[in-house]
Amino acid sequence: QTISPLSTPPMVTCDDFALAFDIDGVLMRGGQAIPEAVDAMKYINGANPYGLKIPYIFLTNGGGKTEQERCEDLSRQLDVEICPGQFICGHTPMREMAAKYNTVLVVGGEGEQCRIVAQKYGFKDIITPGDIIKTRQDTTPFRKLTDEEYKNSKMLDLSKTHIEAIFVFADSRDWAGDQQIILDVLMSQGGHLNLRSETHDEGPPIYFSHNDVVWSTSHDYSRIGMGALRASLEALYKAVSGKDLNSIAFGKPQVGTFQFATRLLQKWRSESHGIDKPPSTVYFFGDTPESDIRGTNEYNEIAENDWFSVLVKTGVYKDGTTPRFEPRQICDNIFDAVKFAVERQQ
Ligand code: G3P
Ligand code: MG
Repeated sequence: QTISPLSTPPMVTCDDFALAFDIDGVLMRGGQAIPEAVDAMKYINGANPYGLKIPYIFLTNGGGKTEQERCEDLSRQLDVEICPGQFICGHTPMREMAAKYNTVLVVGGEGEQCRIVAQKYGFKDIITPGDIIKTRQDTTPFRKLTDEEYKNSKMLDLSKTHIEAIFVFADSRDWAGDQQIILDVLMSQGGHLNLRSETHDEGPPIYFSHNDVVWSTSHDYSRIGMGALRASLEALYKAVSGKDLNSIAFGKPQVGTFQFATRLLQKWRSESHGIDKPPSTVYFFGDTPESDIRGTNEYNEIAENDWFSVLVKTGVYKDGTTPRFEPRQICDNIFDAVKFAVERQQ
């Protein structure tokens, strides 16, 4: 363990174990910090009986803003500095697909935010549902663009538009319109919007940034999320075309997302803490058994180190029920959860 010379009383940077946090239902709910989250952040940054500063990352399925912007919001809400180098959201791994496709349809999020995210990732030609509605208003008979949306959207030449892949970056704000447009693309000949496939199986691939059917907000009961849109689209596609839709989801619980997190954590520990060895244990704190606990447990089967799942009771999982995927520990809230992890390491 390395002693940090600048801190008084001397703090010890923990080079042994590390922490990974889910966000919604663990640290935040409905745009507000969960009260125990602020104390939990202080605790892991040295305000604990051992003066330990423990390296940590964030791994959320949420999205819809750039990582930089999301970190600025979180830093303010949790009263601690959080950098993009320790942050992964649902669409972060999608940046690795930017070189693969030229023209893509990007769906979800507020206004033009997801187009901006996609541009930052290096996607070259980004089309949004708004562009398609602006070009042909009767695409969505009951949805009209606002003046602002009309101004921001671009007119397309549909005879030349060839969508190579569909990316659902964030939650749809207009399920009916977005599903109509996604169906049109899926049922086209190779993504050519004005050519309909007779066999209904020549459309481009569709990627979702995660598959959470429900998520935790300020409402008493969990709200439907992107996984619900995916299920709805699959059912619609089957009803309309008679074929099964093969869609791909990123995010937790996918093993690839945890592998991505492992690489990020290694880089973060090395670059910001000078630790050049992998952590012996990574504690993952989540509220959703189906994504957080399942993902951590399944990754633990193949990971080189121990990925330890901790379920908190402040989000999707509710006290008194049996989680569908069993965590190694259940805690009331995130403050109790980080104290548990630190104590277990002593
Ligand atoms: O849309 C976000 C939600 O599905 C889950 O976010 O932070 O709990 O992974 P999080
Ligand atoms: Mg969550």
